[in-house]
Amino acid sequence: MQYDYIIIGAGVAGLHAASYIPEDKKTLIISKNVPWECNTFYAQGGISTAKDDADVASHIQDTLVAGAGLCNEANVSILVQESRPIVQALIEKGFTFDVNAKGELLYTKEAAHSESRIIHAGGDATGRYLHHFLLTQNLHPMLSASVVDLHIENDICHGVVVSSPQEGMRTIYAKHIIIASGGFGALYDYHTNARSISGDIQGIAIEKGLKLADMEMTQFHPTVYVASTQGARKQLLTEALRGEGATIVNEAGERFINHPLGELAPRDIVSREIFHQAQKKEGKVYLDFSNFQEHSFKERFPNIYFDLHVLGFDIPRERVPISPAFHYAIGGIQTDSNGLVLGMKNLYAVGEVASTGVHGANRLASNSLLEGLVFSKRAVAHTSHVNVDFEFKSFEIRDTILLTPEDKAIKVALREIMWKDVGIVRTPKGLQEAKRFIEFHLNRPTGRFLRLRLLTANAIVEAAIKRTTPIGVHYIIEE
Ligand code: SIN
Repeated sequence: MQYDYIIIGAGVAGLHAASYIPEDKKTLIISKNVPWECNTFYAQGGISTAKDDADVASHIQDTLVAGAGLCNEANVSILVQESRPIVQALIEKGFTFDVNAKGELLYTKEAAHSESRIIHAGGDATGRYLHHFLLTQNLHPMLSASVVDLHIENDICHGVVVSSPQEGMRTIYAKHIIIASGGFGALYDYHTNARSISGDIQGIAIEKGLKLADMEMTQFHPTVYVASTQGARKQLLTEALRGEGATIVNEAGERFINHPLGELAPRDIVSREIFHQAQKKEGKVYLDFSNFQEHSFKERFPNIYFDLHVLGFDIPRERVPISPAFHYAIGGIQTDSNGLVLGMKNLYAVGEVASTGVHGANRLASNSLLEGLVFSKRAVAHTSHVNVDFEFKSFEIRDTILLTPEDKAIKVALREIMWKDVGIVRTPKGLQEAKRFIEFHLNRPTGRFLRLRLLTANAIVEAAIKRTTPIGVHYIIEE
């Protein structure tokens, strides 16, 4: 099977890339699970965009400040400069963002933005609406299968080894391969990600010697309801709630975020304050909605209203216990400004799986859907400017055991150790403990999927050990 394009992943970056590939190009989109089991589907807040030419410099500045000096400034500039055209293109294709009675875009505010510049759809369902829109626009076939390997030789990726229950394991070849498989939330005990987002492709990239960057930069979302949902995926309570008046309070109902921006401080700071407060006072921390009227809450945040109602909360009268949870992988496979994987000729990585450097040490809220949109388009455009000429080469698929009966327990233990030792607050001792656990299991036979998770976890831990001073989301202290 030979294609012009293979796209691994069917979230915003994958589907948006597909939307720029003409129908006559033989293209296959590979989705690990049902296509809506992706992080885009669960994204609530919105898409950040420069509001007008005058806002470009300020959006760039906010992104750089949040990134704590570690951003790739050239790529940040691309991200922001291309934000308005990309949003305009979506609108022209028929996507509807929330607007006021005059038909003007509604902008909200999230942490560390100096302006209200987040546009949204369906109130609090931006990701879901955008994902649905991109799916309905999609012209290319989709395959539900797990990616097991990439065939790479001489800086060229020839194909993708996939496995599915119906057809077993096989290789699919393509001239251009775009990885858009998302981050690695499922490595953590509490997270807001889709359950299939487990860092497999990052693990493959490590095996192939591709460069990963900023893996220690794992972003925790401060306001997540972690108490009741089963499984590691938890209910996100969007930052836009705080942007529009929700406060964070302790058991006594007192606000305690010690920062000039209060609840709208950068999310690493808010997450740590909540973490310390919960530890210090042995009490719970809550999101308080008493500044809202019920009808306006319901209209602006219909899905959160419904979900919390189903969980038994009387919103906005009742406050909701919260905790930080893993939310976003800032680091990933290193690419250039066109999404081309460093050192490769025809392999691209876009969206959360990639490291373009736009987020530095801390991602500015709602810059992630934007990154997926901007760099996926650039990747496809780049493929038409480069002539990669090669003969497809067939490779032998190694006989690989994908899962063993012991894997599940190790996977659960890995999640616990990542949460405890490679979480919001890190210590050299905790990181060494995590490393020992991971290395022990990497040196024993496991199923391939667990091995890939362990490799990705190892890259996070190694990067965290290497960076001995705290910066951005990487908060490392001595005991
Ligand atoms: C949120 O809605 O709070 C999440 C936005 C983001 O992670 O960028």
